[in-house]
Amino acid sequence: RWAYVNGRYLPHRQAVVHVEDRGFQFADGVYEVVTLLDGRFADLDGHMERLGRSLTELRMGWPADPRVVTMIARELVRRNRVVNGSLYIQVTRGVAPRDFKFPADTPPTLVITVKRVAAFAKPAQLEKGVAVVTVPDIRWGRRDIKTVGLLAPVLAKQQAAESGAYEAWLIDPDGTVTEGSSSNAWIVTRDGTLVTREPSEKILNGITRLSLLRLARERGIPVEERSFTVEDALAAREAFLSSAGTFALPVTRIDGKPVGEGGPGPVTMALRQAYLDYVA
Ligand code: PDD
Repeated sequence: RWAYVNGRYLPHRQAVVHVEDRGFQFADGVYEVVTLLDGRFADLDGHMERLGRSLTELRMGWPADPRVVTMIARELVRRNRVVNGSLYIQVTRGVAPRDFKFPADTPPTLVITVKRVAAFAKPAQLEKGVAVVTVPDIRWGRRDIKTVGLLAPVLAKQQAAESGAYEAWLIDPDGTVTEGSSSNAWIVTRDGTLVTREPSEKILNGITRLSLLRLARERGIPVEERSFTVEDALAAREAFLSSAGTFALPVTRIDGKPVGEGGPGPVTMALRQAYLDYVA
């Protein structure tokens, strides 16, 4: 297994960064996760575009031209012989003696890894849907930037796992659902409207989210980008979550209570298929 670190393809076990990397000390970096389906990257352009945006927001430059980063990613996939998997790209502000201020003239650290994924969803998750639990959203004020500062989502996901749930839905102080710990949150209302929160600094604008919105509109499904509460979700016909690798995954229980009929809904499953067809 191979990884890429700052200009070199290394055996995965030997792929390391310096102890004074700012990613390690300050979580001063950004990342992307791109799904590889049947040898093709899903929504690669969207993910690269968002990586550029995240870098800009943190006033970091590209570690190399985006086309070069893409080339390295493809070469890494080839070397690892991965056909279905998950690509991880991370850029941190580089190695410098610990100091909060940006270091001058320090090149960024680029790390790329890829792993095989045997199945993007277990049969039971598609047949029965997944459970989510709600937890207060204690993250920072710039969730639109895909930073490696992920402590709140780590704690939320751990809590979900310990409750036997797949994901945690994060609740804003105003009572609305912001998003999942590593996914966007959606409902289909009683009148058949697809609802997901509007992009803002409160959520990560998912690349899968953007594609699903486009696919829904193309199919004439009414769409509303607005916030919703857990009560709205429990009163909805369907709920689901989206991210790279989960695509659209039905959510059928929230804090132990059933959503809709308690099973995966037709709109969710149609959008999942539409996404898979689109990236194929
Ligand atoms: N997470 N919201 C958050 C907080 C996320 O971390 C993610 C993705 C998403 C969905 O975005 P996208 O559709 O672009 O994957 C929404 C990735 C998968 C991760 O951290 O592993």
